Amino acid sequence: MLLTGAAGRIGTVLRGGLPERGWALRSLDVVPLTDTRPGEEHLVADVTDPAAVLDAAQGADAVVHLAGVSGESTWAAVSHANIEGTWSVLEAARRAGVPRVVLASSNHATGFTPRPGSGLLREADAPPRPDTFYGVTKVATEALGALYADRYGMDVVCLRIGTAAPEPTTTRHLSTWLSPGDQVGLVDAALRAPAPGFAVVWGISANTRAWWDLTAARALGYEPQDDAEVFAAALVEVDGEPDPADPVHARVGGEFTTRDFDAEHLGPPLPRGDIAPGSGAEP
Ligand SMILES: NC(=O)c1ccc[n+]([C@@H]2O[C@H](COP(=O)([O-])OP(=O)(O)OC[C@H]3O[C@@H](n4cnc5c(N)ncnc54)[C@H](O)[C@@H]3O)[C@@H](O)[C@H]2O)c1
Repeated sequence: MLLTGAAGRIGTVLRGGLPERGWALRSLDVVPLTDTRPGEEHLVADVTDPAAVLDAAQGADAVVHLAGVSGESTWAAVSHANIEGTWSVLEAARRAGVPRVVLASSNHATGFTPRPGSGLLREADAPPRPDTFYGVTKVATEALGALYADRYGMDVVCLRIGTAAPEPTTTRHLSTWLSPGDQVGLVDAALRAPAPGFAVVWGISANTRAWWDLTAARALGYEPQDDAEVFAAALVEVDGEPDPADPVHARVGGEFTTRDFDAEHLGPPLPRGDIAPGSGAEP
């Protein structure tokens, strides 16, 4: 299985957990891996380089595509890495005959979607409503996935990941956390589900305070094991109980929907074509 973005936070977790579940990894990142495991193939390549990705995809049984800018950045930087990169990965998979691709989408593809008055929010009730340029690239990620599934019959599973982190560090994360163990379980389920076709599912743990519906993810075979609630008392003691009227808690994208995450605040406008490093990674 080809894993892009293997040196990143989620990539590192998956490289630890997927081999135990039987996956042989070909790990790709634009930066060299410093800690390869026995049996792990590793490649240094840029996912926006179609020829390099096509080479990397040869013989793979699936691709898990994580590589890209993982938070708000300039349009030039985030659109290039995330939209060109996702197209390049899907096209490489098609040409190499790889039948399944798992794409890292994000809750920020639909960040301005409001919290429902009651009940859980299904993916189908959360259409594109991006909260940032980054979120727009995740809408494009899902759209590209749909195109390759519908036109070429590939299985493409898009994971609208919440907060992938060792542990929750804010009260919002009590709803949005995806634990390291559940990152592995979710990706494993997305890789193994029989004939999912095109699917978009939330990626969170079994959090007591969750308000995103895990029915679709569970239908893939995902069985979340962790619950952020074990961290609740400590976080609430510091931050207080979440105010449901606060945009951070009232919208899918949380703080990404606030003025602080306006791309204008990333620095002075850049001339066209200038690439700024990513910043404002998903907290
Ligand atoms: N961490 C989260 O909570 C979260 C939430 C929602 C979505 N996601 C998505 O999941 C994916 C992984 O997230 P993460 O937190 O591990 O991010 P990360 O920033 O830790 O890792 C991203 C990796 O991609 C690599 N990369 C960047 N551009 C590349 C390129 N052009 N070619 C090859 N490699 C490149 C980087 O070197 C890095 O190792 C991202 O697509 C991100 O948008 C993450």
